[in-house]
Amino acid sequence: MNNIEVLSTIPELRDRLGQARERAALTGADTRIVLVPTMGALHAGHLALVRRAHALGDIVVVSIFVNPLQFGAGEDLDSYPRTLDADLAALANENVTFVFAPSAREMYPGGASDTRVVTGEVGSLYEGAARPGHFDGMLTVVAKLLNIVTPDAAVFGQKDGQQVFLVQRMVADLNVCSAIEVVETVREPSGLALSSRNRYLDEPQHTAAQALFAGLSAAAAAGPDGPTAALAAAHARIDLEPLVKLDYLVIVHPQTFLVVPGDYHGPARMLVAARVGTARLIDNVAIRLG
Ligand code: PAJ
Repeated sequence: MNNIEVLSTIPELRDRLGQARERAALTGADTRIVLVPTMGALHAGHLALVRRAHALGDIVVVSIFVNPLQFGAGEDLDSYPRTLDADLAALANENVTFVFAPSAREMYPGGASDTRVVTGEVGSLYEGAARPGHFDGMLTVVAKLLNIVTPDAAVFGQKDGQQVFLVQRMVADLNVCSAIEVVETVREPSGLALSSRNRYLDEPQHTAAQALFAGLSAAAAAGPDGPTAALAAAHARIDLEPLVKLDYLVIVHPQTFLVVPGDYHGPARMLVAARVGTARLIDNVAIRLG
């Protein structure tokens, strides 16, 4: 168990990181700072990111901030779980140096960010189509966090595949110095991807939600027969569940994140999003076609 320092203001965090960098410079140590951005309600998926962060650096900063800018009207901003005490308890054995848990006023003193990061085409597809403005809000807060912490690396989960694609694009396009590291999706034994939103599911919905990964797995197995067969295999499983309201099921090119043509051969990703009860769930897997 270590003593995590919980900081809620930007000057305090910068100050403490500056001191850590100075101490390292004096001793000639190579101090690498690694950031794990989260919205809290931490689960084993987040902890896998923290463990990767440790493998990459000495000072691990976990940010916990439910970013209003990435929630649309009618979304779950108000009901999104805020569980700071439980989150700190979950991090207590993870050797985290700093938890940065700012208020909305600290991050957006003017009420909202006047200047924003705007995504390109991919930001308006899939999750972006269902949640207009979501990715601009997400990228804006990630850019702010990267500028506040200036980490050597920042760690993201593959679970939010489009998010991490867009973060990598932003970092390349805007010449951000931090490396972006990606951790594979952590799942329940049933295959359901861990998500803070799974707590919205009741028992029958939780069982039905397992069809998402089952469908993706069936698609991956059918991949050698091509995109049409893979999509049919996923539908055959997911469409069996009346509690799963499918939003989109697509196969995208890993480099462009655009839908692949019907005769595509090679590596790809299959993305799925569905509403189950009040929860909007997403998942994705790697799939090899043809
Ligand atoms: P949040 O949903 O809290 O997720 C924080 C990080 O944990 C993201 O990189 C996400 O992909 C990763 N993650 C969530 N569930 C995971 C799982 N089952 N396996 C592996 N990684 C998982 O994503 C956000 O917050 C926000 O958009 C944020 C990037 C913090 C910006 O506000």
